[in-house]
Amino acid sequence: MDDVFLRACRREPVERTPVWFMRQAGRYQPEYRALRERYGILDICRTPELAVRVTALPVERLGVDAAILFSDIMVPVAAMGAGVEIVEGRGPVVDQPIRTAGDLDRLHVLEPGTDVPFVSEAVRELVKVLDHPLIGFAGAPFTVASYLVEGGPARDYARTKALMWSDPATWERLMTLLADSMLAYLRAQVEAGASAVQLFDSWVGALTEDDYREHVLPYSRRILEGLSGVPRIHFGVGAAHLLEAMRDAGADVVGVDWRTPLDEAWKRLGEGVAVQGNLDPAAVLASPDTLRRKALEVLDAAGGRPGHVFNLGHGVLPATDPGALQSVVELVHERTSRDGAR
Ligand code: CP3
Repeated sequence: MDDVFLRACRREPVERTPVWFMRQAGRYQPEYRALRERYGILDICRTPELAVRVTALPVERLGVDAAILFSDIMVPVAAMGAGVEIVEGRGPVVDQPIRTAGDLDRLHVLEPGTDVPFVSEAVRELVKVLDHPLIGFAGAPFTVASYLVEGGPARDYARTKALMWSDPATWERLMTLLADSMLAYLRAQVEAGASAVQLFDSWVGALTEDDYREHVLPYSRRILEGLSGVPRIHFGVGAAHLLEAMRDAGADVVGVDWRTPLDEAWKRLGEGVAVQGNLDPAAVLASPDTLRRKALEVLDAAGGRPGHVFNLGHGVLPATDPGALQSVVELVHERTSRDGAR
């Protein structure tokens, strides 16, 4: 597919900067809230017809340049044998946490064809109906492991770190299981037609760079290097100190959260990768003037270099006004239109 988003991921010149938003489908949309009155979030993820509708919604409403599959990082994990529920306002909760070698026996390596057939089905249908590229995604081993070990959202990741440091054999088994599963999961999405993938390592910022390189990077690399032919986006939150290491894991595009100015991040990363980000999601809730100023600051920091994918620096907040988000898309497109770029 020759497309503005995919070309930007490959650092090729584009006629305008592409934009999409993490969590562009979700509670800030009245249509999504209406659907959620009738269905649980996991039901939506597991029903291709609903997942297709929710995935396409922001593309139609906002005019973004890419769709991201509607699912959750815990969908494959539930299919691997973990008891997962997603609690509103809190996040994923696991009924029996994984903390010992014995606990690991309850999980199996994901077989996408039998464990999550609805995902490939949704992707195949989306590729037919969308005019834009579809981004597939998975949670990275550390972030998924943190939910499994902690049993739910955490603040300090103490149990996860304790397992990582004190029982390296179990850690290795867990991380290998997750890496093999997420690689199979992403490959299935690409085979079904996804034209880019994003690996979300949302909570990896809790680690030092040394711990990341020793205990996490090899597993994320196994996933990223196991994929070929599509741009690979790698994103973490509060992970400014890990930018180079996350690039080294094998990314084509590094997602930068809102805490690090994009020019600074890019300078550190070098010209070999594209960069995605990084408007503070809170800016979309500010006054129109403030929002405009902050969005332009991001474009200024990108400086018109090839290889910028505009996004928020983390997911859309539930209190966001869809109209404000749409105004960001319009501003980015208008300000970066380069007639004759192709
Ligand atoms: O539009 C999209 O971006 C695709 C959909 C998507 C969801 N989850 C749907 C969802 C994506 C890409 C995810 C990834 C995800 N899930 C991550 C990584 C990205 C990130 O935000 O850092 C993480 C850490 C999770 C785990 C998770 N699931 C959390 C923290 C929550 C929020 C809990 C809450 O209620 O605030 C969820 C639930 C969830 N996943 C929602 C959505 C739209 C919330 C809405 C709902 O409950 O219907």
